[in-house]
Amino acid sequence: MIVAKTREETRKAVAEARKAGKSVGLVPTMGALHAGHVSLVKQSVADNGFTVVSIFVNPTQFGPSEDFTKYPRQLEADAELCRKAGVDVIFAPAPHEMYPEDFSTYVEETRLSKGLCGRSRPTHFRGVTTVVMKLLNIVMPDRAYFGQKDAQQAAVIKRMVRDLDVPVEIVVMPIVREGDGLAMSSRNKYLAGDLQSEAPALSRALEEAKRVFAAGERDVAALQSVMKNVIAAAPHAKVDYVEVVDAATLEPVKKIARTALVALAVFVGDTRIIDNTVLEP
Ligand code: PAJ
Repeated sequence: MIVAKTREETRKAVAEARKAGKSVGLVPTMGALHAGHVSLVKQSVADNGFTVVSIFVNPTQFGPSEDFTKYPRQLEADAELCRKAGVDVIFAPAPHEMYPEDFSTYVEETRLSKGLCGRSRPTHFRGVTTVVMKLLNIVMPDRAYFGQKDAQQAAVIKRMVRDLDVPVEIVVMPIVREGDGLAMSSRNKYLAGDLQSEAPALSRALEEAKRVFAAGERDVAALQSVMKNVIAAAPHAKVDYVEVVDAATLEPVKKIARTALVALAVFVGDTRIIDNTVLEP
C-alpha cells in the first residue's frame, strides 16, 4: 500500500493497475476511519482489483462556524486499518493540492441538495459535489462507494453522476451501527460522558417510527411526533429536523404512499448527529 500525497502519484499508481487489467474502486472519506468506512472499503476490495481510499478533510464542505479545524485527523491509524483491509493506495492530499489559491470552479446540484441538511448547511453539498467530482476525475474509478448513513449525500452524488454523465457506478452501502444503535460517525468522538448515552435517542426514534409504521400509521405528522417525543426524553438533545420525504425526490410528503426516507438531524450538546431509515409501504 502506498500513501500518496499528490494527484500525480495517485494517477500513476492507478495507471499501472489499469495496465495490469485491474478494475478500480474509490472510497472517498474524511478519515478518522471506523467500521462504517471499513464496510465500504471491504466492498471495494471485494469488487475491484485495485482500491483507492481518499482521506481529505474537505474545507469547502464546512460552514464558517463548523468544525473544520477540530475535525479528527489520524492518518497513521487510518493507514493501518486500510492496509489490513487490502487497500492499494491512500490518497491524502494537503488542502493546497486540491484547492490552489485561485480556485474558482464549483459543481452544484440544485434540487436534492436544498432540503434536509441543505437547509441548515447551505454551502455543504456544493463542497461535497465539488470535491467528489475532483476525486472522480483524479482516480477515474469504475466504482465509487458511499454510505446510506449520509442518504442525502448519496442521492446528490448519484444525481450529479447521472446529470453530468460521469462514467462511474455509485455503490451505496448500509448504515453500520454501534451495539446501542448509534450510527457510526467520526463526529461521535466529540460526544463526552452523558452525551454518549443520549445519542442513541436518534436510532431509537427511528425504531419507534418503524414500529408505528408497521402497525399501519401512514400520517407523517403522527410519525414526526412519535420521533420528537423519543428525542425530547434526552435532556441535551435539540432537534434540527425530523423529516419524512419521498425517497426518490427528497420532497416532503404528508402521507406515506411510496418508499419514504425518514431523516433526522439532532444536536446532542454541540455535536450535530444525523441518522435515517427507509420505510416501504
Ligand atoms: P465521511 O464522513 O468520512 O464518510 C465517508 C463515507 O463513509 C461516506 O460515504 C459515508 O456515508 C460513509 N459512512 C460514514 N459513516 C457510516 C456508517 N456508519 N455506515 C456506513 N457508511 C458510513 O461523507 C464524507 O466523509 C464526505 O462528505 C466525502 C464524501 C468524503 C466528501 O468529502
